[in-house]
Amino acid sequence: MKKRDALFVAIAAIIVLVLWAAPPETTLKIPLDDTHRELQATLEREGKKATEKICRTCHNEKDLPLSKDHPPKYRCLFCHKFPESDQKGDSKDSTKK
Ligand code: HEC
Ligand code: HEC
Repeated sequence: MKKRDALFVAIAAIIVLVLWAAPPETTLKIPLDDTHRELQATLEREGKKATEKICRTCHNEKDLPLSKDHPPKYRCLFCHKFPESDQKGDSKDSTKK
């Protein structure tokens, strides 16, 4: 019984380490140009779902198709972050509030 517990802990530790080795920050950041900066304000005002609907007005099959091997794309903001909302005070931009 004890041995099995140890094995369980070891496996859990490996899973945690693997997840740690692939942090979500490695996903492409949303660029901070005028288009996307405006959406950051929308996110703060109206929340994720409303903002993701706007993403799709440009990032869709017709206008700006995502690559073929793009992962499931239901919740853009679950993976793609706005650089400033993630790391406050860590931006080159000196004109922030
Ligand atoms: C008004 C149109 C428009 C909207 C709305 C828009 N985008 Fe974009 N997005 C663009 C354009 C144009 C580019 C630049 C494409 C390029 O350089 O290949 C871009 C680039 C990106 C990139 C970087 C791509 C790269 O190769 O570096 C990401 C990530 C992204 N957008 C995510 C989003 C997300 C998430 C939303 C919603 C919050 C969103 N965009 C809303 C037009 C838009
Ligand atoms: C499950 C996580 C996930 C979700 C959800 C997601 N993306 Fe991505 N996206 C990625 C990954 C991973 C890449 C590949 C780039 C990289 O290596 O970081 C990527 C790449 C992109 C690119 C660069 C061009 C391309 O097709 O490779 C754009 C633009 C983009 N995503 C926009 C969006 C938009 C808009 C949505 C919502 C409709 C969205 N993504 C949802 C993970 C995600």
